Amino acid sequence: MKNKLCEMFGIDVPVFAFSHCRDVVVEVSKAGGMGVLGMARMDPERVEEELNWIDAHIDGKPYGIDVLMSANVEDSGDLKFEPDKLLPERHVTFVREMLDNAGIPPLPAEEEKTIMQDIVKGMNFTPRESLAMIETAMRHPVKLIVNALGTPPAGLIDEAHAKGIKVAALAGKPKHARRHKDAGCDFVIAVGTEAGGHTGDVSSMVLWPSIVDAVAPLPVLGGGGVGRGRQLAAALVLGCEGVWCGSIWLKTAQSEVTPEIKEKMFQATASDAVLTKTVTGKPCRTLRNAFSDAWDAPDAPEVLPAPKQNYLWWQQGRTRVERVRATDFLTYPVGQIVGDMNEETSVKEVVYEFMNELLDAKDRLNLQLDE
Ligand SMILES: Cc1cc2nc3c(=O)[nH]c(=O)nc-3n(C[C@H](O)[C@H](O)[C@H](O)COP(=O)(O)O)c2cc1C
Repeated sequence: MKNKLCEMFGIDVPVFAFSHCRDVVVEVSKAGGMGVLGMARMDPERVEEELNWIDAHIDGKPYGIDVLMSANVEDSGDLKFEPDKLLPERHVTFVREMLDNAGIPPLPAEEEKTIMQDIVKGMNFTPRESLAMIETAMRHPVKLIVNALGTPPAGLIDEAHAKGIKVAALAGKPKHARRHKDAGCDFVIAVGTEAGGHTGDVSSMVLWPSIVDAVAPLPVLGGGGVGRGRQLAAALVLGCEGVWCGSIWLKTAQSEVTPEIKEKMFQATASDAVLTKTVTGKPCRTLRNAFSDAWDAPDAPEVLPAPKQNYLWWQQGRTRVERVRATDFLTYPVGQIVGDMNEETSVKEVVYEFMNELLDAKDRLNLQLDE
């Protein structure tokens, strides 16, 4: 394909893959798309390790990195020294009792403390923490830096450009997209509410063309609810120059999710991908489960603000639940496209299906226009 984004990165297919899994990143780039590694919960040492591995396996193909850098998130630097004081007792008790009542064994007390320290160590959402990881990443041949939680700082954009690295940011509203454009981003990623993970409240069908118009002639990627060629065709028809997908890779043999969670995804419908604050404290689309449901009860406490709700889920919930693979509570961020994810395939097959279905869609459109 030929368009601005394919030319910008020298890729064949404008399919940009967000993934926390380095194997997915490598396979997408090798199949002609663009893999982008999510660095949430990493630190500079881990970034170094992951990117060394990618560099050794990607055959010189381009790839990017994605950070969760928010100017609004409380700097967890000081909190890291006192993890015991982070969570209100009422919330801890609420989750403990929820899991006790479901027959899920408690964590041994000494392990609970170590686990909490590890979790807090991985909460690297502040600009200070993200920039340290980016500095490490810039010593590798990364071609793209994406920020998920706002406009990247001007200094970072200048430094990236000086090194020939492109910069983009996610947007759920046209005003956010305009801010990214004004700051000097090379393109914008418009993410509709259908998306897995943190997302806004406007659907892709409405959001994409409004962001395309808001930032023209800057290129736009359409994200949120894209898992196949017909959706890529829709994005192109609506004015985007490619797509940004996260959920669809979770069904692949290369993905990081456990077999139990993958199986839950294969059984799920689009309605099972619920938008909930219970996992991170911000609206995050996730596979519905007994934990997300429990907060709807009349006696449930208020959800904590980010990132504390996330500490609560990881320490008191996720760690306990995943140990015994308690099916009702198992969950993972996923978008509405989960209803279309029914069996395991390879990353390469997903990319090739994107292209085959896009060509079918083009023929169908041509046929109707000719008539
Ligand atoms: C498992 C999972 C984890 C995600 N984590 C992040 C993240 O750390 N940073 C980020 O920018 N977006 C994250 N996202 C959102 C993706 O960047 C992307 O916007 C979204 O997946 C697109 O919609 P889709 O899920 O319908 O493909 C995540 C998505 C999923 C499914």
